[in-house]
Amino acid sequence: MGKNLLELKSLDVSEIRSILDQAQAFHDGQVFRGCEGRIAANLFFEPSTRTQYSFHVVDEKLGLRVVSFNPAGSSLQKNESFYDTVKTFDSFGVDLLVIRHVENEYYNQLTGRVNAKILNGGDGTGNHPTQSLLDLLTIRQQFGGFEGLKVAIVGDLLHSRIAKSNIWGLTKMGADVCVSGPPTLLLPDIEKFGVKVYYDAREAVNNADVILTTRMRMETQDKSFLPSLDEYKRLFRVDDSLLRYAKKDAIVMHPGPIQRGIEISARVIDSKRCIINDQIANSVAVRMAILYILSQIGGGMQ
Ligand code: CP
Repeated sequence: MGKNLLELKSLDVSEIRSILDQAQAFHDGQVFRGCEGRIAANLFFEPSTRTQYSFHVVDEKLGLRVVSFNPAGSSLQKNESFYDTVKTFDSFGVDLLVIRHVENEYYNQLTGRVNAKILNGGDGTGNHPTQSLLDLLTIRQQFGGFEGLKVAIVGDLLHSRIAKSNIWGLTKMGADVCVSGPPTLLLPDIEKFGVKVYYDAREAVNNADVILTTRMRMETQDKSFLPSLDEYKRLFRVDDSLLRYAKKDAIVMHPGPIQRGIEISARVIDSKRCIINDQIANSVAVRMAILYILSQIGGGMQ
């Protein structure tokens, strides 16, 4: 795993299993305060509720002190760059940098140039490794493993860093992954990721065990990607009529933030088969496991 956690694809199956096992132990009540006296800087250059504040909870549980960062009140407003901002926190001597930024692979400009460990809290449309790990834990808790599971990922794959990380993680762990979305919102050459592609969401969801919907990123959405939002909702929204094609006991997941009525119906969100709250609870266990493991590797957080 090395000093940092930047992308899920840098982990092999046994490392992913170790993280999930450790996360399950924290989920089941294991306590670890070995990070006492260390400092984490949570540098969220892009809005976040789940990732940012779950790291606050995790830091509390592990004994880390946390420094939060408010981009609107920082010297970013005086033209300071992303790189110089991160270097400033590194020079403060913090032990860990948890970073979210709009730029894909922003971390390439930091690795080897900062002393603190870096944990990627989401980069642009590229990677969201901790979200994917918590999704993997949630699926494993429901089904006991991944072999033979059919997972349908429905929605905007082009802009979704979570979909990409999940495709990588799920296929690596042995699940059969199929995807569906408007052709303009699928990745070019998506078949190369080892998934089946369906332009009809009903075919993707047919007989699926897990339906994972992605958020429509309205804030970055170029209107030209979609003929109309109404058409998107008619063809790709996860609702009761689409779920008729899935297995009876299929589960529905969504990484959040949820937009009720857009990519998923309110009725499905509030139904028993939707396990969004399990995902959120597991976010704490998984992020604890990652910080615990990072604390055991190399110097700095021992
Ligand atoms: N899933 C996720 O990354 O949510 P936030 O943007 O609220 O952190």
